Amino acid sequence: MHAATLLFLLLSPVTIATLNVRRALAPGGYRDKVNIYEVPGGGSLARIGNEIHVLGANGTVVHKATAGSPLKARPPSKVPALLSSDDDDSVIHIFTYWINVICSPYALFTGSWRVPFVPESDDGQTLFWVQDLEEYPGDTALMTVLQYGVSEAGGGPFYSASTWYRDPMNIFHTTPIRTETGVLMESIITLTSASPFGAETFDYNAQFTNIPGTSMNVTGVAQLNWASIAFEVFNEKDNSDYPVGITFFEDVNLKLQNGVRPDVFWPGYVYEPEQIMLDAVTQGSTNAQLRLIY
Ligand SMILES: *[C@@H]1O[C@H](CO)[C@@H](O)[C@H](O)[C@H]1NC(C)=O
Ligand SMILES: *[C@@H]1O[C@H](CO)[C@@H](O)[C@H](O)[C@H]1NC(C)=O
Repeated sequence: MHAATLLFLLLSPVTIATLNVRRALAPGGYRDKVNIYEVPGGGSLARIGNEIHVLGANGTVVHKATAGSPLKARPPSKVPALLSSDDDDSVIHIFTYWINVICSPYALFTGSWRVPFVPESDDGQTLFWVQDLEEYPGDTALMTVLQYGVSEAGGGPFYSASTWYRDPMNIFHTTPIRTETGVLMESIITLTSASPFGAETFDYNAQFTNIPGTSMNVTGVAQLNWASIAFEVFNEKDNSDYPVGITFFEDVNLKLQNGVRPDVFWPGYVYEPEQIMLDAVTQGSTNAQLRLIY
Protein backbone atom coordinates (compact mmCIF):
# COMPACT_ATOMS: atom_id res chain seq x y z
CA MET A 1 0.00 0.00 0.00
CA HIS A 2 1.30 3.44 -0.89
CA ALA A 3 2.07 5.67 2.02
CA ALA A 4 -0.21 8.33 0.55
CA THR A 5 -3.16 5.90 0.46
CA LEU A 6 -2.51 4.85 4.00
CA LEU A 7 -2.37 8.46 5.07
CA PHE A 8 -5.68 9.10 3.31
CA LEU A 9 -7.30 6.12 5.03
CA LEU A 10 -6.04 7.30 8.37
CA LEU A 11 -7.17 10.87 7.89
CA SER A 12 -10.50 10.50 6.16
CA PRO A 13 -12.57 9.30 9.12
CA VAL A 14 -11.34 12.28 11.09
CA THR A 15 -12.23 14.64 8.25
CA ILE A 16 -15.70 13.15 7.95
CA ALA A 17 -16.26 13.38 11.69
CA THR A 18 -15.21 17.03 11.66
CA LEU A 19 -17.59 17.83 8.81
CA ASN A 20 -20.46 16.08 10.56
CA VAL A 21 -20.05 17.96 13.79
CA ARG A 22 -21.76 21.08 12.54
CA ARG A 23 -23.56 22.96 15.23
CA ALA A 24 -27.14 23.97 14.62
CA LEU A 25 -29.54 26.07 16.65
CA ALA A 26 -32.48 24.53 18.48
CA PRO A 27 -34.43 25.57 21.58
CA GLY A 28 -32.08 25.07 24.51
CA GLY A 29 -28.93 25.83 22.55
CA TYR A 30 -26.65 24.64 19.79
CA ARG A 31 -26.57 20.94 18.98
CA ASP A 32 -24.80 18.72 16.50
CA LYS A 33 -26.72 19.09 13.26
CA VAL A 34 -26.66 15.34 12.63
CA ASN A 35 -28.75 14.78 15.74
CA ILE A 36 -31.63 17.04 14.74
CA TYR A 37 -34.59 15.36 13.03
CA GLU A 38 -37.82 16.54 11.50
CA VAL A 39 -40.97 14.59 12.34
CA PRO A 40 -43.25 14.28 9.29
CA GLY A 41 -46.61 16.08 9.56
CA GLY A 42 -49.01 14.00 11.68
CA GLY A 43 -46.12 11.78 12.74
CA SER A 44 -44.88 10.83 16.17
CA LEU A 45 -41.96 9.53 18.22
CA ALA A 46 -41.69 6.22 20.02
CA ARG A 47 -38.97 5.25 22.44
CA ILE A 48 -38.26 1.55 21.79
CA GLY A 49 -35.44 0.11 23.89
CA ASN A 50 -32.45 2.35 23.39
CA GLU A 51 -33.77 3.84 20.15
CA ILE A 52 -36.16 6.63 19.33
CA HIS A 53 -38.24 5.85 16.26
CA VAL A 54 -39.60 8.65 14.12
CA LEU A 55 -42.93 7.53 12.69
CA GLY A 56 -44.77 9.02 9.74
CA ALA A 57 -48.50 9.73 9.98
CA ASN A 58 -49.09 6.31 8.42
CA GLY A 59 -47.13 4.60 11.22
CA THR A 60 -44.09 3.76 9.07
CA VAL A 61 -40.74 4.14 10.80
CA VAL A 62 -38.91 6.82 8.81
CA HIS A 63 -35.89 7.07 11.08
CA LYS A 64 -34.28 5.36 14.05
CA ALA A 65 -32.03 7.38 16.31
CA THR A 66 -29.97 5.99 19.16
CA ALA A 67 -31.42 7.48 22.32
CA GLY A 68 -29.02 9.67 24.21
CA SER A 69 -28.09 8.42 27.62
CA PRO A 70 -27.93 10.91 30.47
CA LEU A 71 -24.68 12.82 30.18
CA LYS A 72 -24.09 12.70 33.90
CA ALA A 73 -26.14 12.66 37.04
CA ARG A 74 -27.02 16.25 37.75
CA PRO A 75 -27.21 17.56 41.28
CA PRO A 76 -30.84 18.44 42.01
CA SER A 77 -30.04 22.10 42.55
CA LYS A 78 -28.72 22.60 39.04
CA VAL A 79 -30.90 23.93 36.24
CA PRO A 80 -32.08 21.32 33.71
CA ALA A 81 -30.92 20.82 30.16
CA LEU A 82 -33.20 23.28 28.46
CA LEU A 83 -31.93 26.06 30.64
CA SER A 84 -28.24 25.41 30.60
CA SER A 85 -26.43 27.47 28.03
CA ASP A 86 -24.39 24.63 26.47
CA ASP A 87 -21.18 25.92 24.98
CA ASP A 88 -22.65 29.11 23.64
CA ASP A 89 -22.24 32.31 25.56
CA SER A 90 -24.49 34.52 23.44
CA VAL A 91 -27.52 32.92 25.01
CA ILE A 92 -30.06 34.49 27.30
CA HIS A 93 -32.39 32.16 29.15
CA ILE A 94 -35.22 33.63 31.17
CA PHE A 95 -37.50 31.15 32.84
CA THR A 96 -39.91 30.25 35.56
CA TYR A 97 -40.66 26.71 36.67
CA TRP A 98 -42.32 24.35 39.05
CA ILE A 99 -41.04 20.90 40.00
CA ASN A 100 -43.52 18.15 40.70
CA VAL A 101 -42.34 16.17 43.72
CA ILE A 102 -45.72 14.54 44.30
CA CYS A 103 -46.18 10.84 43.44
CA SER A 104 -48.73 11.56 40.73
CA PRO A 105 -47.26 12.76 37.39
CA TYR A 106 -48.23 15.93 35.56
CA ALA A 107 -51.22 15.19 33.34
CA LEU A 108 -51.88 18.63 31.87
CA PHE A 109 -49.92 21.82 31.33
CA THR A 110 -51.52 24.64 29.38
CA GLY A 111 -50.67 28.22 28.54
CA SER A 112 -51.69 30.75 25.92
CA TRP A 113 -50.00 33.91 24.76
CA ARG A 114 -50.36 36.32 21.85
CA VAL A 115 -47.67 36.45 19.19
CA PRO A 116 -45.78 39.69 19.95
CA PHE A 117 -44.96 42.54 17.59
CA VAL A 118 -42.19 41.91 15.10
CA PRO A 119 -38.89 43.23 16.54
CA GLU A 120 -37.80 46.57 15.16
CA SER A 121 -34.47 45.16 13.93
CA ASP A 122 -33.60 41.91 12.29
CA ASP A 123 -29.96 41.27 13.15
CA GLY A 124 -30.11 37.54 12.66
CA GLN A 125 -31.39 37.03 16.20
CA THR A 126 -33.43 34.01 17.14
CA LEU A 127 -36.02 34.20 19.89
CA PHE A 128 -37.88 31.25 21.40
CA TRP A 129 -40.92 31.34 23.67
CA VAL A 130 -41.07 27.87 25.19
CA GLN A 131 -43.61 26.01 27.25
CA ASP A 132 -42.27 22.66 28.31
CA LEU A 133 -42.31 19.62 30.51
CA GLU A 134 -38.90 18.15 31.31
CA GLU A 135 -37.46 15.17 33.02
CA TYR A 136 -35.94 16.27 36.29
CA PRO A 137 -33.29 15.53 37.12
CA GLY A 138 -32.50 14.55 33.55
CA ASP A 139 -32.08 15.78 30.04
CA THR A 140 -35.28 15.17 28.13
CA ALA A 141 -37.99 17.70 27.35
CA LEU A 142 -41.19 18.06 25.35
CA MET A 143 -41.95 21.61 24.34
CA THR A 144 -44.17 23.86 22.30
CA VAL A 145 -42.14 26.67 20.77
CA LEU A 146 -42.96 30.01 19.24
CA GLN A 147 -39.94 31.16 17.28
CA TYR A 148 -38.83 34.42 15.72
CA GLY A 149 -35.88 34.12 13.36
CA VAL A 150 -34.07 31.05 12.12
CA SER A 151 -33.38 27.72 13.82
CA GLU A 152 -32.30 24.40 12.37
CA ALA A 153 -36.01 23.64 11.81
CA GLY A 154 -36.43 26.64 9.53
CA GLY A 155 -38.02 30.04 10.04
CA GLY A 156 -36.92 33.52 9.04
CA PRO A 157 -37.60 37.14 10.06
CA PHE A 158 -41.13 36.18 11.07
CA TYR A 159 -42.91 34.09 13.70
CA SER A 160 -43.37 30.35 13.43
CA ALA A 161 -44.67 27.59 15.68
CA SER A 162 -43.43 24.06 16.22
CA THR A 163 -43.24 21.27 18.78
CA TRP A 164 -39.92 19.78 19.90
CA TYR A 165 -38.71 16.79 21.86
CA ARG A 166 -35.15 16.51 23.04
CA ASP A 167 -33.10 13.91 24.81
CA PRO A 168 -29.43 14.20 25.87
CA MET A 169 -28.29 13.67 22.28
CA ASN A 170 -31.11 14.20 19.77
CA ILE A 171 -33.72 16.80 19.02
CA PHE A 172 -36.89 16.16 17.02
CA HIS A 173 -39.24 18.85 15.72
CA THR A 174 -42.38 19.33 13.69
CA THR A 175 -42.20 21.52 10.59
CA PRO A 176 -42.43 25.17 11.68
CA ILE A 177 -45.73 26.76 10.68
CA ARG A 178 -45.81 30.48 10.11
CA THR A 179 -47.94 32.59 12.40
CA GLU A 180 -48.53 36.31 12.83
CA THR A 181 -48.53 39.06 15.43
CA GLY A 182 -51.70 39.01 17.51
CA VAL A 183 -52.52 35.32 17.07
CA LEU A 184 -53.35 33.63 20.38
CA MET A 185 -51.02 30.64 20.74
CA GLU A 186 -52.77 27.91 22.69
CA SER A 187 -50.19 25.50 24.01
CA ILE A 188 -51.18 22.26 25.65
CA ILE A 189 -49.03 19.39 26.86
CA THR A 190 -50.87 16.29 28.05
CA LEU A 191 -50.02 12.95 29.54
CA THR A 192 -51.86 10.59 27.22
CA SER A 193 -50.98 7.33 28.95
CA ALA A 194 -49.18 5.98 32.00
CA SER A 195 -49.94 3.14 34.31
CA PRO A 196 -51.47 4.66 37.44
CA PHE A 197 -48.77 3.58 39.89
CA GLY A 198 -45.12 2.78 39.46
CA ALA A 199 -45.11 3.45 35.73
CA GLU A 200 -41.73 3.38 34.10
CA THR A 201 -42.70 4.90 30.79
CA PHE A 202 -45.05 7.68 29.87
CA ASP A 203 -46.80 8.88 26.70
CA TYR A 204 -47.32 12.58 26.00
CA ASN A 205 -48.74 14.89 23.39
CA ALA A 206 -47.77 18.51 22.86
CA GLN A 207 -49.29 20.98 20.42
CA PHE A 208 -50.62 24.44 19.77
CA THR A 209 -54.31 23.68 19.38
CA ASN A 210 -54.74 26.76 17.16
CA ILE A 211 -51.99 25.68 14.71
CA PRO A 212 -52.64 22.46 12.77
CA GLY A 213 -49.45 20.51 12.09
CA THR A 214 -47.86 21.17 15.48
CA SER A 215 -49.18 18.08 17.27
CA MET A 216 -46.53 15.57 18.32
CA ASN A 217 -47.05 12.31 20.21
CA VAL A 218 -44.15 10.86 22.13
CA THR A 219 -44.49 7.39 23.62
CA GLY A 220 -42.46 5.29 26.03
CA VAL A 221 -40.43 8.12 27.54
CA ALA A 222 -39.39 9.11 31.06
CA GLN A 223 -41.69 10.99 33.41
CA LEU A 224 -41.56 14.74 32.77
CA ASN A 225 -41.86 16.42 36.14
CA TRP A 226 -40.40 19.90 35.64
CA ALA A 227 -42.86 22.42 34.15
CA SER A 228 -41.48 25.64 32.79
CA ILE A 229 -42.15 28.67 30.67
CA ALA A 230 -39.08 30.23 29.18
CA PHE A 231 -37.81 32.91 26.81
CA GLU A 232 -34.53 32.23 25.05
CA VAL A 233 -32.49 34.61 22.96
CA PHE A 234 -29.61 33.85 20.61
CA ASN A 235 -27.35 36.20 18.68
CA GLU A 236 -29.03 39.44 19.68
CA LYS A 237 -27.20 42.74 19.27
CA ASP A 238 -29.32 45.26 21.14
CA ASN A 239 -32.74 45.97 22.57
CA SER A 240 -34.30 46.60 19.15
CA ASP A 241 -33.92 42.85 18.51
CA TYR A 242 -36.79 42.20 20.94
CA PRO A 243 -40.47 42.89 20.47
CA VAL A 244 -41.71 45.91 22.37
CA GLY A 245 -44.24 45.59 25.16
CA ILE A 246 -45.35 42.76 27.40
CA THR A 247 -46.26 39.17 26.63
CA PHE A 248 -48.86 37.71 28.97
CA PHE A 249 -48.95 33.94 29.41
CA GLU A 250 -52.56 33.32 30.34
CA ASP A 251 -54.55 30.26 31.36
CA VAL A 252 -51.45 28.63 32.81
CA ASN A 253 -52.84 25.42 34.25
CA LEU A 254 -51.06 22.48 35.82
CA LYS A 255 -52.92 19.35 36.81
CA LEU A 256 -51.73 15.98 38.10
CA GLN A 257 -52.92 12.58 36.94
CA ASN A 258 -54.80 12.09 40.23
CA GLY A 259 -56.78 15.27 39.53
CA VAL A 260 -54.94 17.41 42.09
CA ARG A 261 -53.94 20.98 41.26
CA PRO A 262 -50.58 21.42 43.01
CA ASP A 263 -49.82 24.48 45.10
CA VAL A 264 -47.61 26.14 42.50
CA PHE A 265 -45.40 29.17 42.95
CA TRP A 266 -43.84 30.58 39.77
CA PRO A 267 -40.58 32.33 40.75
CA GLY A 268 -39.79 35.66 39.11
CA TYR A 269 -36.70 36.21 36.97
CA VAL A 270 -34.95 39.41 36.02
CA TYR A 271 -32.22 39.43 33.41
CA GLU A 272 -30.35 42.59 34.36
CA PRO A 273 -28.15 43.35 31.35
CA GLU A 274 -31.12 43.55 29.01
CA GLN A 275 -33.72 44.45 31.63
CA ILE A 276 -36.02 41.60 30.69
CA MET A 277 -38.35 40.38 33.38
CA LEU A 278 -40.60 37.37 33.77
CA ASP A 279 -42.93 37.21 36.75
CA ALA A 280 -46.31 35.99 37.90
CA VAL A 281 -49.26 38.35 38.00
CA THR A 282 -51.45 35.54 39.33
CA GLN A 283 -49.79 32.57 41.05
CA GLY A 284 -51.02 29.00 41.25
CA SER A 285 -51.94 26.06 39.06
CA THR A 286 -55.37 27.28 37.96
CA ASN A 287 -55.47 30.03 35.35
CA ALA A 288 -52.21 31.54 36.55
CA GLN A 289 -50.97 34.54 34.61
CA LEU A 290 -47.32 35.29 33.90
CA ARG A 291 -45.85 38.28 32.15
CA LEU A 292 -42.68 38.78 30.19
CA ILE A 293 -41.59 42.41 29.95
CA TYR A 294 -39.04 43.24 27.25
C1 LIG B 1 -51.57 11.32 18.56
O1 LIG B 1 -52.36 10.43 19.31
C2 LIG B 1 -53.75 10.71 19.27
C3 LIG B 1 -54.45 9.74 20.22
O2 LIG B 1 -53.98 8.45 20.06
C4 LIG B 1 -54.24 10.62 17.84
O3 LIG B 1 -55.60 10.98 17.77
C5 LIG B 1 -53.43 11.55 16.94
O4 LIG B 1 -53.81 11.41 15.59
C6 LIG B 1 -51.94 11.21 17.10
N1 LIG B 1 -51.08 11.99 16.22
C7 LIG B 1 -50.86 13.31 16.32
C8 LIG B 1 -49.91 13.90 15.37
O5 LIG B 1 -51.40 14.03 17.16
C1 LIG C 1 -45.57 6.67 5.09
O1 LIG C 1 -45.15 8.00 5.47
C2 LIG C 1 -43.79 8.26 5.18
C3 LIG C 1 -43.42 9.60 5.82
O2 LIG C 1 -44.42 10.55 5.68
C4 LIG C 1 -43.58 8.22 3.68
O3 LIG C 1 -42.24 8.49 3.37
C5 LIG C 1 -43.97 6.84 3.17
O4 LIG C 1 -43.90 6.83 1.76
C6 LIG C 1 -45.38 6.47 3.60
N1 LIG C 1 -45.62 5.06 3.27
C7 LIG C 1 -46.79 4.63 2.79
C8 LIG C 1 -46.87 3.16 2.56
O5 LIG C 1 -47.74 5.36 2.56
